[in-house]
Amino acid sequence: MDRLGVALLAVSLASFANAVVKVLDLDVPESVEIGSTDEIVMVCNFVASKDEAAEMKWFYNGNIEQIYQWIPDSDKPPGAIGRFKERLDVEHSSPDPRAKYNTLKIKDVSYDLSGNYTCKISGIKSEDSQTKQLVVYFHLERPSWMKLQNHQPILYL
Ligand SMILES: *[C@@H]1O[C@H](CO)[C@@H](O)[C@H](O)[C@H]1NC(C)=O
Repeated sequence: MDRLGVALLAVSLASFANAVVKVLDLDVPESVEIGSTDEIVMVCNFVASKDEAAEMKWFYNGNIEQIYQWIPDSDKPPGAIGRFKERLDVEHSSPDPRAKYNTLKIKDVSYDLSGNYTCKISGIKSEDSQTKQLVVYFHLERPSWMKLQNHQPILYL
């Protein structure tokens, strides 16, 4: 959704009689090759009507294991929780206070990051969530000894 679309949706949500929260887009890469990047970046874009105090939570593999929490309208800093706590960094990505800490960066890319990531926005009267699956894989290639420049690879048949 483009900026105008988001703005229009925000306006229409704000004019609802009942408070509404909505996850517009959860951006998680489908697959990441080990060694191709130092970190995996995930973004959760949401809207919440003005009278709805929203809370952002991220979960790993279901809706029980929480990995992140942020309350956009509070002064409290966002918090990493649970298994990725030490590897999770929060990007200060936008001057918009409602989007400030919606971007997670997870370091030390390895298989154990594979799984389903859920971003859930909870308001007082409503909640919404989206889930995306991430696959971390290792690209199989010729063993490094075969790449030695002045040596022909030795094949044992
Ligand atoms: C992740 O979600 C996919 C698609 O819904 C499902 O097939 C898979 O079992 C889930 N994986 C885990 C670890 O929950």
